[in-house]
Amino acid sequence: MQKIFLECRECKTTYSADFKYVCESCFGPLDVKYDTSFTKNLFENRNVDTYWKYFELLPIVDKSNIVDIGSGLTPLIKATNLGAELGLNNLYIKNDSVNTTFSFKDRPAGVAVSKAKEFNLSTVGCASTGNLASATAAHAAKGRLKCLIFAPKNIEQPKITQAISYGAEYIAIDGTYDDSNRIAAQIGDQHKIGVVNINLRSYYTEGSKTLAFEVADQLGWDVPDHLVIPVGSGAMLNSICKGFEELENISLLKDTSNIHIAAAQPYGCAPIVNAFKNKTNTIKPIEYPDTIAKSLAIGDPGDGRYVIKRLSQYHGYAEDCNNNEIIDSIILLAKTEGIFTEPAGGVSIAVLRKMVENKMIDKNDQTICFITGNGLKSPDSLFDIIPKPKIAQPNIEKILSIMR
Ligand SMILES: Cc1ncc(COP(=O)(O)O)c(C=O)c1O
Ligand SMILES: [Zn+2]
Repeated sequence: MQKIFLECRECKTTYSADFKYVCESCFGPLDVKYDTSFTKNLFENRNVDTYWKYFELLPIVDKSNIVDIGSGLTPLIKATNLGAELGLNNLYIKNDSVNTTFSFKDRPAGVAVSKAKEFNLSTVGCASTGNLASATAAHAAKGRLKCLIFAPKNIEQPKITQAISYGAEYIAIDGTYDDSNRIAAQIGDQHKIGVVNINLRSYYTEGSKTLAFEVADQLGWDVPDHLVIPVGSGAMLNSICKGFEELENISLLKDTSNIHIAAAQPYGCAPIVNAFKNKTNTIKPIEYPDTIAKSLAIGDPGDGRYVIKRLSQYHGYAEDCNNNEIIDSIILLAKTEGIFTEPAGGVSIAVLRKMVENKMIDKNDQTICFITGNGLKSPDSLFDIIPKPKIAQPNIEKILSIMR
Protein backbone atom coordinates (compact mmCIF):
# COMPACT_ATOMS: atom_id res chain seq x y z
CA MET A 1 0.00 0.00 0.00
CA GLN A 2 1.33 3.42 -0.99
CA LYS A 3 1.75 5.57 2.12
CA ILE A 4 3.10 8.63 0.28
CA PHE A 5 2.44 11.03 -2.58
CA LEU A 6 4.21 14.08 -4.04
CA GLU A 7 2.98 17.66 -3.82
CA CYS A 8 4.29 20.74 -5.61
CA ARG A 9 5.78 23.16 -3.08
CA GLU A 10 4.47 26.09 -5.17
CA CYS A 11 1.08 25.27 -6.73
CA LYS A 12 0.19 22.25 -4.53
CA THR A 13 -0.62 19.96 -7.49
CA THR A 14 -0.31 16.37 -6.31
CA TYR A 15 1.33 13.41 -8.05
CA SER A 16 1.84 9.75 -7.29
CA ALA A 17 5.22 9.03 -5.71
CA ASP A 18 7.12 8.19 -8.91
CA PHE A 19 10.61 8.91 -10.20
CA LYS A 20 10.00 12.64 -10.72
CA TYR A 21 10.97 15.80 -8.89
CA VAL A 22 9.53 18.86 -10.65
CA CYS A 23 5.93 19.95 -11.09
CA GLU A 24 4.61 19.52 -14.61
CA SER A 25 2.49 22.66 -14.40
CA CYS A 26 4.81 25.20 -12.73
CA PHE A 27 8.27 23.53 -12.48
CA GLY A 28 8.19 23.91 -8.69
CA PRO A 29 9.98 21.28 -6.55
CA LEU A 30 7.93 18.29 -5.41
CA ASP A 31 7.77 17.39 -1.72
CA VAL A 32 6.82 14.05 -0.21
CA LYS A 33 3.58 13.99 1.79
CA TYR A 34 2.39 11.15 4.03
CA ASP A 35 -1.02 9.58 4.41
CA THR A 36 0.09 8.18 7.74
CA SER A 37 -1.92 9.25 10.77
CA PHE A 38 -0.64 8.54 14.27
CA THR A 39 -2.83 7.55 17.16
CA LYS A 40 0.15 7.09 19.50
CA ASN A 41 3.89 7.65 19.55
CA LEU A 42 5.10 4.69 17.47
CA PHE A 43 8.73 5.66 18.01
CA GLU A 44 8.80 5.42 21.77
CA ASN A 45 10.52 2.25 23.00
CA ARG A 46 11.28 1.22 19.43
CA ASN A 47 14.52 -0.70 19.44
CA VAL A 48 16.12 0.52 16.19
CA ASP A 49 19.47 2.29 16.42
CA THR A 50 19.57 4.02 13.03
CA TYR A 51 17.47 6.84 11.58
CA TRP A 52 15.19 4.14 10.11
CA LYS A 53 13.59 4.23 13.55
CA TYR A 54 11.32 6.85 11.95
CA PHE A 55 10.29 4.62 9.03
CA GLU A 56 6.64 5.73 8.97
CA LEU A 57 7.78 9.29 8.15
CA LEU A 58 10.30 8.24 5.50
CA PRO A 59 9.40 7.75 1.83
CA ILE A 60 10.18 4.04 1.40
CA VAL A 61 7.14 1.85 0.92
CA ASP A 62 8.64 -1.64 1.16
CA LYS A 63 11.12 -2.13 4.05
CA SER A 64 13.06 -4.70 2.00
CA ASN A 65 14.36 -1.82 -0.16
CA ILE A 66 16.06 -0.07 2.75
CA VAL A 67 19.81 0.29 2.31
CA ASP A 68 21.16 0.73 5.82
CA ILE A 69 24.82 1.23 6.74
CA GLY A 70 24.07 2.01 10.38
CA SER A 71 23.82 5.79 10.34
CA GLY A 72 21.74 8.16 12.45
CA LEU A 73 20.75 8.29 16.11
CA THR A 74 23.91 10.32 16.63
CA PRO A 75 24.65 11.88 20.03
CA LEU A 76 22.99 15.06 21.25
CA ILE A 77 25.68 16.23 23.64
CA LYS A 78 25.04 18.77 26.37
CA ALA A 79 27.92 21.14 25.68
CA THR A 80 28.62 22.17 29.27
CA ASN A 81 32.20 23.39 28.67
CA LEU A 82 31.51 25.33 25.49
CA GLY A 83 28.26 26.56 27.06
CA ALA A 84 30.20 27.87 30.10
CA GLU A 85 32.66 29.60 27.79
CA LEU A 86 29.82 31.31 25.91
CA GLY A 87 27.55 31.88 28.91
CA LEU A 88 24.85 29.43 27.78
CA ASN A 89 23.31 26.98 30.26
CA ASN A 90 21.47 24.81 27.75
CA LEU A 91 23.70 24.43 24.73
CA TYR A 92 23.62 21.13 22.85
CA ILE A 93 25.73 19.81 20.00
CA LYS A 94 24.01 17.46 17.58
CA ASN A 95 27.14 15.55 16.62
CA ASP A 96 26.43 14.20 13.16
CA SER A 97 30.13 13.97 12.36
CA VAL A 98 30.10 10.41 13.75
CA ASN A 99 27.85 8.93 11.09
CA THR A 100 29.15 5.93 9.15
CA THR A 101 30.74 8.02 6.39
CA PHE A 102 31.40 10.86 8.88
CA SER A 103 28.84 13.44 7.80
CA PHE A 104 25.09 14.06 8.00
CA LYS A 105 24.86 13.21 4.29
CA ASP A 106 24.31 9.55 5.21
CA ARG A 107 20.74 10.58 6.00
CA PRO A 108 19.62 12.03 2.63
CA ALA A 109 21.89 9.69 0.61
CA GLY A 110 20.64 6.58 2.42
CA VAL A 111 17.01 7.47 1.81
CA ALA A 112 17.63 8.37 -1.85
CA VAL A 113 19.63 5.22 -2.61
CA SER A 114 16.91 3.12 -0.94
CA LYS A 115 14.34 4.87 -3.13
CA ALA A 116 16.50 4.18 -6.21
CA LYS A 117 16.31 0.50 -5.26
CA GLU A 118 12.57 0.80 -4.88
CA PHE A 119 12.45 2.29 -8.40
CA ASN A 120 14.59 -0.61 -9.68
CA LEU A 121 17.38 1.70 -10.88
CA SER A 122 20.76 0.09 -11.41
CA THR A 123 22.92 3.22 -11.06
CA VAL A 124 22.91 6.16 -8.68
CA GLY A 125 25.04 9.27 -8.66
CA CYS A 126 25.40 12.72 -7.20
CA ALA A 127 26.91 16.14 -7.59
CA SER A 128 28.92 16.73 -4.45
CA THR A 129 30.89 19.32 -2.53
CA GLY A 130 32.68 16.37 -0.91
CA ASN A 131 30.58 14.66 1.73
CA LEU A 132 27.67 13.52 -0.40
CA ALA A 133 30.14 11.66 -2.64
CA SER A 134 31.10 9.21 0.11
CA ALA A 135 27.60 8.96 1.54
CA THR A 136 26.16 8.04 -1.87
CA ALA A 137 29.04 5.73 -2.80
CA ALA A 138 28.89 3.83 0.52
CA HIS A 139 25.14 3.28 0.27
CA ALA A 140 25.47 2.27 -3.38
CA ALA A 141 28.13 -0.29 -2.36
CA LYS A 142 25.88 -1.73 0.33
CA GLY A 143 22.85 -1.75 -2.00
CA ARG A 144 24.87 -3.29 -4.86
CA LEU A 145 24.22 -0.37 -7.21
CA LYS A 146 26.69 1.36 -9.48
CA CYS A 147 27.68 4.88 -8.46
CA LEU A 148 28.84 7.92 -10.42
CA ILE A 149 30.22 10.99 -8.67
CA PHE A 150 30.71 14.52 -10.01
CA ALA A 151 32.59 16.93 -7.76
CA PRO A 152 34.83 19.97 -8.19
CA LYS A 153 38.45 18.89 -8.48
CA ASN A 154 39.62 21.13 -5.63
CA ILE A 155 37.84 19.37 -2.75
CA GLU A 156 39.79 17.85 0.13
CA GLN A 157 41.85 14.75 -0.77
CA PRO A 158 40.54 12.58 2.13
CA LYS A 159 37.02 13.00 0.78
CA ILE A 160 38.09 11.92 -2.71
CA THR A 161 40.04 8.91 -1.41
CA GLN A 162 37.13 7.86 0.78
CA ALA A 163 34.53 8.05 -2.02
CA ILE A 164 36.65 6.13 -4.52
CA SER A 165 37.34 3.42 -1.93
CA TYR A 166 33.65 2.48 -1.96
CA GLY A 167 34.00 1.63 -5.65
CA ALA A 168 32.38 4.70 -7.17
CA GLU A 169 33.34 6.12 -10.54
CA TYR A 170 34.60 9.59 -9.64
CA ILE A 171 34.76 12.41 -12.15
CA ALA A 172 36.63 15.46 -10.81
CA ILE A 173 35.28 18.49 -12.63
CA ASP A 174 37.64 21.31 -13.50
CA GLY A 175 35.09 23.87 -12.36
CA THR A 176 32.73 24.74 -9.51
CA TYR A 177 30.06 22.74 -7.70
CA ASP A 178 27.45 24.41 -9.91
CA ASP A 179 29.26 23.07 -13.00
CA SER A 180 29.30 19.58 -11.44
CA ASN A 181 25.61 19.87 -10.67
CA ARG A 182 24.73 20.83 -14.24
CA ILE A 183 26.69 17.91 -15.68
CA ALA A 184 25.17 15.44 -13.19
CA ALA A 185 21.66 16.65 -14.08
CA GLN A 186 22.23 16.17 -17.81
CA ILE A 187 23.84 12.74 -17.49
CA GLY A 188 21.19 11.62 -15.00
CA ASP A 189 18.36 12.47 -17.39
CA GLN A 190 20.06 10.99 -20.46
CA HIS A 191 21.05 7.68 -18.83
CA LYS A 192 18.25 7.09 -16.30
CA ILE A 193 20.63 7.42 -13.39
CA GLY A 194 19.15 8.19 -9.97
CA VAL A 195 21.07 11.34 -9.11
CA VAL A 196 20.34 11.53 -5.42
CA ASN A 197 20.39 15.30 -5.00
CA ILE A 198 18.82 16.11 -8.38
CA ASN A 199 16.22 13.78 -9.88
CA LEU A 200 15.76 11.92 -6.55
CA ARG A 201 15.81 15.19 -4.61
CA SER A 202 12.22 14.92 -3.33
CA TYR A 203 13.16 11.67 -1.57
CA TYR A 204 16.73 12.69 -0.75
CA THR A 205 15.70 15.71 1.32
CA GLU A 206 13.40 13.53 3.43
CA GLY A 207 16.47 11.89 5.00
CA SER A 208 17.65 15.10 6.66
CA LYS A 209 14.30 15.46 8.44
CA THR A 210 15.50 12.74 10.77
CA LEU A 211 17.81 15.34 12.34
CA ALA A 212 14.68 17.09 13.61
CA PHE A 213 13.09 13.80 14.70
CA GLU A 214 16.18 12.76 16.63
CA VAL A 215 16.66 16.12 18.35
CA ALA A 216 12.99 16.17 19.45
CA ASP A 217 13.20 12.53 20.57
CA GLN A 218 16.49 13.10 22.44
CA LEU A 219 14.99 16.13 24.22
CA GLY A 220 12.09 13.93 25.40
CA TRP A 221 9.73 15.23 22.67
CA ASP A 222 10.41 18.80 23.67
CA VAL A 223 10.70 21.78 21.29
CA PRO A 224 14.10 23.56 21.26
CA ASP A 225 14.39 27.37 21.25
CA HIS A 226 17.25 27.87 18.76
CA LEU A 227 18.74 25.83 15.94
CA VAL A 228 22.02 26.89 14.32
CA ILE A 229 22.39 25.15 10.97
CA PRO A 230 25.22 25.26 8.40
CA VAL A 231 23.86 25.96 4.94
CA GLY A 232 25.06 25.12 1.42
CA SER A 233 22.17 24.35 -0.93
CA GLY A 234 19.70 24.93 1.90
CA ALA A 235 18.17 21.46 1.57
CA MET A 236 19.06 20.37 5.10
CA LEU A 237 17.72 23.51 6.79
CA ASN A 238 14.50 23.23 4.87
CA SER A 239 14.18 19.53 5.71
CA ILE A 240 14.77 20.09 9.42
CA CYS A 241 11.91 22.62 9.38
CA LYS A 242 9.69 20.11 7.52
CA GLY A 243 10.57 17.52 10.15
CA PHE A 244 9.45 19.74 13.03
CA GLU A 245 6.26 20.61 11.15
CA GLU A 246 5.44 16.95 10.61
CA LEU A 247 5.97 16.14 14.29
CA GLU A 248 3.56 18.91 15.19
CA ASN A 249 1.02 17.70 12.59
CA ILE A 250 0.93 14.25 14.15
CA SER A 251 0.80 15.79 17.65
CA LEU A 252 4.14 14.41 18.78
CA LEU A 253 5.25 17.96 19.48
CA LYS A 254 3.30 20.93 20.75
CA ASP A 255 3.55 24.30 19.05
CA THR A 256 6.83 24.51 17.08
CA SER A 257 6.25 28.05 15.87
CA ASN A 258 8.57 29.55 18.51
CA ILE A 259 11.69 27.82 17.26
CA HIS A 260 14.34 30.33 16.13
CA ILE A 261 16.37 29.20 13.15
CA ALA A 262 19.78 30.56 12.18
CA ALA A 263 21.41 29.86 8.81
CA ALA A 264 25.22 29.83 8.94
CA GLN A 265 27.36 30.31 5.83
CA PRO A 266 31.03 31.02 5.17
CA TYR A 267 32.07 34.46 4.00
CA GLY A 268 33.20 33.87 0.40
CA CYS A 269 30.12 31.82 -0.33
CA ALA A 270 27.18 33.28 1.55
CA PRO A 271 24.50 34.00 -1.07
CA ILE A 272 21.64 33.19 1.32
CA VAL A 273 23.06 35.35 4.12
CA ASN A 274 23.50 38.18 1.61
CA ALA A 275 19.87 37.90 0.50
CA PHE A 276 18.67 37.79 4.12
CA LYS A 277 20.68 40.89 5.01
CA ASN A 278 19.38 42.70 1.92
CA LYS A 279 15.83 41.71 2.87
CA THR A 280 15.12 40.00 -0.43
CA ASN A 281 14.24 36.46 -1.40
CA THR A 282 16.13 36.76 -4.67
CA ILE A 283 19.39 34.90 -4.29
CA LYS A 284 22.31 36.39 -6.20
CA PRO A 285 24.60 33.46 -7.07
CA ILE A 286 28.29 33.58 -6.17
CA GLU A 287 30.15 32.72 -9.35
CA TYR A 288 33.50 31.75 -7.78
CA PRO A 289 33.12 30.63 -4.16
CA ASP A 290 36.23 31.19 -2.04
CA THR A 291 36.25 29.64 1.43
CA ILE A 292 37.93 26.89 3.44
CA ALA A 293 34.43 25.52 4.13
CA LYS A 294 34.43 23.71 0.81
CA SER A 295 31.47 21.52 1.68
CA LEU A 296 29.37 24.71 1.86
CA ALA A 297 30.74 26.19 -1.36
CA ILE A 298 27.51 26.19 -3.35
CA GLY A 299 27.30 29.44 -5.27
CA ASP A 300 23.76 28.94 -6.60
CA PRO A 301 21.84 27.22 -3.79
CA GLY A 302 18.90 25.15 -5.05
CA ASP A 303 16.79 25.74 -1.95
CA GLY A 304 18.04 29.27 -1.26
CA ARG A 305 14.76 31.08 -1.56
CA TYR A 306 13.02 28.44 0.53
CA VAL A 307 15.57 29.02 3.27
CA ILE A 308 14.67 32.72 3.23
CA LYS A 309 11.01 31.70 3.55
CA ARG A 310 11.79 29.39 6.47
CA LEU A 311 13.74 32.15 8.18
CA SER A 312 10.74 34.43 8.01
CA GLN A 313 8.52 31.60 9.31
CA TYR A 314 10.84 30.78 12.25
CA HIS A 315 12.10 34.14 13.64
CA GLY A 316 15.15 33.53 11.54
CA TYR A 317 18.61 34.93 11.35
CA ALA A 318 21.47 34.44 8.89
CA GLU A 319 25.12 35.25 9.40
CA ASP A 320 28.47 34.49 7.84
CA CYS A 321 31.99 34.09 9.21
CA ASN A 322 35.46 34.32 7.71
CA ASN A 323 38.16 31.64 7.48
CA ASN A 324 39.91 32.75 10.69
CA GLU A 325 36.66 32.68 12.62
CA ILE A 326 35.96 29.19 11.24
CA ILE A 327 39.37 27.89 12.31
CA ASP A 328 39.13 29.47 15.79
CA SER A 329 35.75 27.84 16.21
CA ILE A 330 36.94 24.40 15.10
CA ILE A 331 39.67 24.63 17.74
CA LEU A 332 37.30 25.99 20.40
CA LEU A 333 34.87 23.09 19.88
CA ALA A 334 37.69 20.55 19.95
CA LYS A 335 39.26 22.01 23.12
CA THR A 336 36.01 22.37 25.04
CA GLU A 337 33.90 19.41 23.99
CA GLY A 338 36.36 16.94 22.46
CA ILE A 339 34.61 17.10 19.08
CA PHE A 340 36.72 17.58 15.97
CA THR A 341 34.74 19.00 13.08
CA GLU A 342 35.43 20.00 9.51
CA PRO A 343 35.05 23.68 8.54
CA ALA A 344 31.27 23.40 8.04
CA GLY A 345 30.97 22.71 11.78
CA GLY A 346 33.31 25.62 12.47
CA VAL A 347 30.84 27.79 10.54
CA SER A 348 27.98 26.75 12.87
CA ILE A 349 30.03 27.45 16.00
CA ALA A 350 31.34 30.79 14.66
CA VAL A 351 27.80 31.97 13.91
CA LEU A 352 26.59 30.74 17.31
CA ARG A 353 29.32 32.87 18.91
CA LYS A 354 28.16 35.92 16.96
CA MET A 355 24.60 35.32 18.07
CA VAL A 356 25.76 35.20 21.70
CA GLU A 357 27.79 38.41 21.22
CA ASN A 358 24.71 40.08 19.74
CA LYS A 359 22.64 38.90 22.73
CA MET A 360 20.26 36.97 20.50
CA ILE A 361 20.16 33.94 22.79
CA ASP A 362 18.97 34.01 26.39
CA LYS A 363 21.36 32.10 28.66
CA ASN A 364 18.71 29.50 29.52
CA ASP A 365 17.40 28.97 25.99
CA GLN A 366 17.66 25.43 24.69
CA THR A 367 20.08 25.90 21.79
CA ILE A 368 21.06 23.19 19.32
CA CYS A 369 24.14 23.66 17.16
CA PHE A 370 24.47 21.20 14.28
CA ILE A 371 27.92 19.71 13.64
CA THR A 372 27.50 17.98 10.32
CA GLY A 373 30.95 16.79 9.21
CA ASN A 374 34.08 15.26 10.71
CA GLY A 375 37.43 17.07 11.11
CA LEU A 376 39.39 14.11 9.76
CA LYS A 377 37.86 14.79 6.36
CA SER A 378 39.47 18.18 6.15
CA PRO A 379 42.76 18.28 8.08
CA ASP A 380 44.48 20.63 5.61
CA SER A 381 42.61 23.69 6.81
CA LEU A 382 44.36 23.35 10.19
CA PHE A 383 47.73 22.05 9.07
CA ASP A 384 49.55 25.39 9.07
CA ILE A 385 47.88 26.67 12.22
CA ILE A 386 48.13 23.83 14.72
CA PRO A 387 51.55 23.70 16.45
CA LYS A 388 53.82 20.95 15.16
CA PRO A 389 54.63 18.15 17.62
CA LYS A 390 57.99 18.32 19.36
CA ILE A 391 60.25 15.54 18.14
CA ALA A 392 62.22 13.73 20.83
CA GLN A 393 64.53 10.77 21.30
CA PRO A 394 63.02 8.06 23.53
CA ASN A 395 64.80 9.46 26.59
CA ILE A 396 62.85 10.56 29.67
CA GLU A 397 65.20 13.38 30.78
CA LYS A 398 65.26 14.95 27.34
CA ILE A 399 61.50 14.67 27.02
CA LEU A 400 60.91 16.23 30.46
CA SER A 401 63.21 19.10 29.49
CA ILE A 402 61.14 20.06 26.46
CA MET A 403 57.67 19.52 27.99
CA ARG A 404 55.44 22.48 28.80
C1 LIG B 1 29.23 18.91 6.34
C2 LIG B 1 28.14 19.63 5.63
N1 LIG B 1 27.35 20.44 6.36
C3 LIG B 1 26.34 21.13 5.80
C4 LIG B 1 26.08 21.04 4.44
C5 LIG B 1 24.97 21.87 3.86
O1 LIG B 1 23.88 21.09 3.47
P1 LIG B 1 22.86 21.65 2.38
O2 LIG B 1 23.59 21.66 1.08
O3 LIG B 1 21.74 20.68 2.41
O4 LIG B 1 22.48 23.03 2.81
C6 LIG B 1 26.87 20.22 3.63
C7 LIG B 1 26.60 20.12 2.19
O5 LIG B 1 27.27 19.47 1.45
C8 LIG B 1 27.91 19.49 4.25
O6 LIG B 1 28.70 18.65 3.55
ZN1 LIG C 1 3.46 23.33 -9.35
